[in-house]
Amino acid sequence: MAKNAIVGQSGGPTSVINASLAGVYESCKRRGAGKVYGMLHGVAGLLERRTCVLDDKLKTALDIELLKRTPSSYLGSCRYKLPDWHTAEGEAVYVQLFEILKELDIGYFFYIGGNDSMDTIGKLADYGAHIGSDIRFMGVPKTIDNDLMVTDHTPGYGSAAKYIGVVMKEIIRDATVYGTKYVTIVEIMGRNAGWLTAASELASLSGCGPDLIYMPETDFDLSDFLDDVGRIYRNTGNCVVAVSEGVHLADGSFVSEGKASATDGFGHAQLGGLASKLAEAAKLETGAKVRGIELSLLQRCAAHCASATDVEEAWEAGAAAVEAAVAGMTDKMVVFKCDREDGAYTCVTSLEPLEKAANIEKKIPREWINEAGNGVNHQFIEYALPLIQG
Ligand code: F6P
Repeated sequence: MAKNAIVGQSGGPTSVINASLAGVYESCKRRGAGKVYGMLHGVAGLLERRTCVLDDKLKTALDIELLKRTPSSYLGSCRYKLPDWHTAEGEAVYVQLFEILKELDIGYFFYIGGNDSMDTIGKLADYGAHIGSDIRFMGVPKTIDNDLMVTDHTPGYGSAAKYIGVVMKEIIRDATVYGTKYVTIVEIMGRNAGWLTAASELASLSGCGPDLIYMPETDFDLSDFLDDVGRIYRNTGNCVVAVSEGVHLADGSFVSEGKASATDGFGHAQLGGLASKLAEAAKLETGAKVRGIELSLLQRCAAHCASATDVEEAWEAGAAAVEAAVAGMTDKMVVFKCDREDGAYTCVTSLEPLEKAANIEKKIPREWINEAGNGVNHQFIEYALPLIQG
């Protein structure tokens, strides 16, 4: 690597996004890069010339190893959407960014993030090609939501899924202890995809999964929900429900949106408040004692419960991005290709064009969800189980 490299983190943090950062850094140094810069708060910080030199911070192998095991985004993050460079006003932003990259003598640009962040790096690669820049732009996948296309799964998901499986088991053990009547609603992140909420079913491997699981892959109907809860509650005196923050009615409106009109830089509604809303509705229906539990930020950086598989794969994703850039690749995202044949899990990295991942969301296949839309089957378990190991 003849020139300097720069790396940024973007979007929501995870337990393992720093493992990818460590993988990028270590591989850059091994490949002989000059300085490795970090963008402070992603591309938004870079635009304000807010960077650090990672070499000043990661001096020993132990520093790199500690970074690998440290949750949340070490460099800080942003949810900043780059404008369209085809307009004069938009292009000014790119002119400024490429000027900064030139000043720093950058030859390699790595961005660790989800589908919004792949939009950012795709636009930069596109503009770079337009002006004949020789900077190589590589995307490193990350998101607890697991909603990136063209990759088997995303770094960050395995650890969050493991946490959700574990806390669901603990909640169920607690919520059933008195033997009295009780309805518990647990709200889980994931935006428009149900991967994280489906992970609550992993608790069933310990003999105590949730009674009902609602995901955004199917339309949510309040009266069906109340029928389901009422039926189970009347039969067993207890009902535990996992519900995605992003469940929506047949007309597409979020069930939780009434609570949150704020949107981020990419126009996503800030979701939340659904658990207490549904718990209240369940109370009116059943008269039961109810509890609404919003896992909220607890599930995103729960590194005390990280998956070793996830940590190692996140590192590999960062390292693979560097190897690809060294080999002359640009405008690509690292992806995982996995095999689960006969229960033997293998995972290798590969590359896909950024445009295949930017701004698109991957949902759980409909056939992994039961017909009533309130549970997942063994296909999901077989998919998720290898990702939470270790
Ligand atoms: O990072 C993904 C995610 O955790 C989504 O599941 C959630 O809807 C969103 O981020 C919350 O974002 P923020 O932290 O910006 O409110």
